[in-house]
Amino acid sequence: MALKITIAENEAEFDRMAAWQIIREMLVNPKAVIGLATGRTTKNMHLIVGDIYKANPFDTSSITLFGLDEVTNVPREYAGACYTMLKNEIVEALKIKDKNFIIPPTLSDNFEKECRIFQSELEKRGGIDLQILGLGTNGHLGFNQPGTPFGQETWISKMDEELEARIRKETNTPPEKELGGITLGLKNIMHSRKILLVAKGEAKASIVKEMLYGSVTPDVPASILQLHPNCEFLLDREAAKYIT
Ligand code: GLP
Repeated sequence: MALKITIAENEAEFDRMAAWQIIREMLVNPKAVIGLATGRTTKNMHLIVGDIYKANPFDTSSITLFGLDEVTNVPREYAGACYTMLKNEIVEALKIKDKNFIIPPTLSDNFEKECRIFQSELEKRGGIDLQILGLGTNGHLGFNQPGTPFGQETWISKMDEELEARIRKETNTPPEKELGGITLGLKNIMHSRKILLVAKGEAKASIVKEMLYGSVTPDVPASILQLHPNCEFLLDREAAKYIT
């Protein structure tokens, strides 16, 4: 099966192309269930979605936006919590109702239960129409780190050491308190009707190549996307450096 790869000339074009995909999904399907990813890659595209919407408003009252993953055991208002990032970057700008913005909680005394609630909330809405995915430099998707089984459903994973160290510092979380990442599993991601994986910048170039042309293996969670029937890979020139 040929992979669908789009290479944007530069970062600005990359952000714009991704933003229009989100806008398109909402216009084509006013009841769309759209999964979002946070991070440096997606921030600008989210802001552009808000700008496009402001210039061309439309009814978003039946759109569901959800966060693919969330950091556990930090306050939801912490600037690095996915809830806060998504709210500020895109959810408020699109006037999405609170009940239509779904994301696992940052705090809970039963995260196992929160995983099941999150997943069944998405199922009740008919499943995922469009899932936007970032890419970790180690090939992770959401918080599904290398080694995650392909059949994994929503769960609480470890985050990578670098991110954990940063969050600990920013939130003053002591070492004895556990930090984790609650995330949609690879199985749920694969059940999305459409996927847009976005990767930009030179730091992602080698993992992009592995994801697209390496073996399909849990060692590189994103490699599973080679098997998805409707996945587009949007890259900028730098991330596509090793793609001929
Ligand atoms: C974190 C998030 C992922 C995201 C990834 C990429 O690990 N949990 O959902 O895809 O970062 O981040 P960035 O775009 O900053 O490289």
